[in-house]
Amino acid sequence: MSLAIGRRPFLFGMATAVLLVRGAAEGFAASGPMPRRMSAPGRFLGTSLRFDQLAKDSALRDAVLQDCDMVTPEVDLKWAAIQPARNRFNYRPVDELIAFSTDNRLRVHGHTLLWEQSIPDWARADLAQDEPDWDVVGGYFRAVLGRYSGAVDTWDVINEPIETSHRADGLRANSFLRAFGPDYIPRALREARAAAPRARLLLNEYSFEYGNPVDEARRNAMLRLLGKLRAADIPLDGLGMQAHLDLAKGPLATRALRRFMQNVADLGLDLYVTELDVRERNITLPVAKRDQLVADETKRYLAAVLDQPAVKGITTWGLSDRYSWLIPPRADAVNRGLPYNSDLQPKPMYFVLRDALANLQA
Ligand code: XIL
Repeated sequence: MSLAIGRRPFLFGMATAVLLVRGAAEGFAASGPMPRRMSAPGRFLGTSLRFDQLAKDSALRDAVLQDCDMVTPEVDLKWAAIQPARNRFNYRPVDELIAFSTDNRLRVHGHTLLWEQSIPDWARADLAQDEPDWDVVGGYFRAVLGRYSGAVDTWDVINEPIETSHRADGLRANSFLRAFGPDYIPRALREARAAAPRARLLLNEYSFEYGNPVDEARRNAMLRLLGKLRAADIPLDGLGMQAHLDLAKGPLATRALRRFMQNVADLGLDLYVTELDVRERNITLPVAKRDQLVADETKRYLAAVLDQPAVKGITTWGLSDRYSWLIPPRADAVNRGLPYNSDLQPKPMYFVLRDALANLQA
């Protein structure tokens, strides 16, 4: 299917109309239409998207065009999706997402090149051999980074390289580390820079937000890794903080998080919030209460991160609960941890995001 309706005047008109209708329903139309996009100067708001959902869901498309200026392919750009066999690339869903983004002046964040959970079977078998050939990775990087070098601004080159229970250096003992040793990280970053010289290159990682010993160890391990890469002058431009918040994890460790972000910024690196959402703890509470808890957690988190000038943008991991990847404790329930509910109506989390970004503009 093609998103041939992505003609700018038509879609801009649609987005405005939907905005006014929605605004009236929520009672904020009186203050005039919101800016089409919520970003503040120098900051952007993004969401992850799947091409199949975008293609069939016009309400989702309208919400993306109303609010976002950046999109992250949620699945289509992962290695197993884009190179299902050694000699077969499945570029079409990403091409379509990029066409939609170009038509609508959305930036594209590349997610993700190396991730343990998205290695195609053929490559996993290659990497497990006695003397694996780096060109398994190199060939894939050259193909994908080369194809999208003009369209993708930022890349999660390595996703989730940290696991503090594996090794003293805090690196995850993934297929890449087992194949090439810890050097797989600088190697991948150099390879990425060579294939896409203008792109911003990131590491992307989760669980930096809370006060428990695991999150603390993860912050420390990541800082050590980033420090080493910078000292060795390895091409690297920033860190993506996934920010899958979790109401079961106790209060956010905002002081530790602020210190962590400042330490990353002091290394000369940018920061990006790449996968913001909130996992609920108690889905038996009244809906209004649940939505308030999610919004409050988001507000506390944004207050900490948006103060840090190195934070360039906020991406939520989906816009609507309809497509949340978070599986709630009960099969018939939906986790309400994204800005819009399952009917694409904005929830308190949406207004928290909008207001936090609007305050930056003031
Ligand atoms: C998830 C997607 O949302 C799912 O649809 C997919 O099945 C598995 O991956 N951290 C990441 C993302 O970096 O790529 C993950 O996305 C969520 C956790």
